[in-house]
Amino acid sequence: MLARVMPRADRDLCQRPTPWDVLPWGPTIHLALFVHRVNGLAPGLYMLVRDPAKVGSLRAAMQHQFAWASPRGCPEDLPLFLLQEGDAQQLAAQVSCHQDIAGDSAFSLGMIAEFESSLRRYGPWFYRRLFWETGVIGQVLYLEAEAAGVRATGIGCFFDDPVHHVFGFNDTLFQSLYHFTIGGHVEDPRLTTLPPYSLDH
Ligand SMILES: Cc1cc2nc3c(=O)[nH]c(=O)nc-3n(C[C@H](O)[C@H](O)[C@H](O)COP(=O)(O)O)c2cc1C
Repeated sequence: MLARVMPRADRDLCQRPTPWDVLPWGPTIHLALFVHRVNGLAPGLYMLVRDPAKVGSLRAAMQHQFAWASPRGCPEDLPLFLLQEGDAQQLAAQVSCHQDIAGDSAFSLGMIAEFESSLRRYGPWFYRRLFWETGVIGQVLYLEAEAAGVRATGIGCFFDDPVHHVFGFNDTLFQSLYHFTIGGHVEDPRLTTLPPYSLDH
């Protein structure tokens, strides 16, 4: 799943894997993960750096005690780093407006934007583009979750300052713009599901 959100920024735009060939700028969004229940991976805080060239600037901006260790068995070309081991279920729910789905899942995540540098480089209009990129990541994760037999939910309600505090971001260089959670689903009996394009509504 995480490999699918890697845009392979070292390649020319047209050579990047779909859908990353449609966003004509260098990747600006990285994933701060709360891993709860993933076989073979210790629970804790992780970072997926979608552009390996940005490891240094992220590391400098985040909590200095983070480990930045490559998890055992992690594919060599996946820049996934363990920051800190531990049970982050309650923490993840708390920073997500107390929504259980962020803590009861297999893992949840915050999409961390290279915020200030992008706006300075391209101009204020690029603010929307940062959200476009988070949206595409969300759509890929929705599809990947379904393909893996689990489910996903976008999380637009989160407390950004506490999220920044957890990871150590203390200025506007990096900002969390969108969250996401992936895991086994619980059916909500209050909702009715109709077939797609149903005429009987
Ligand atoms: C940008 C975005 C933000 C969302 N934020 C939340 C959220 O904070 N909490 C939640 O439970 N669901 C959240 N969702 C999930 C929506 O509630 C979900 O897509 C919707 O309930 C699915 O219904 P539908 O299939 O009719 O679209 C979010 C979805 C998107 C796309």
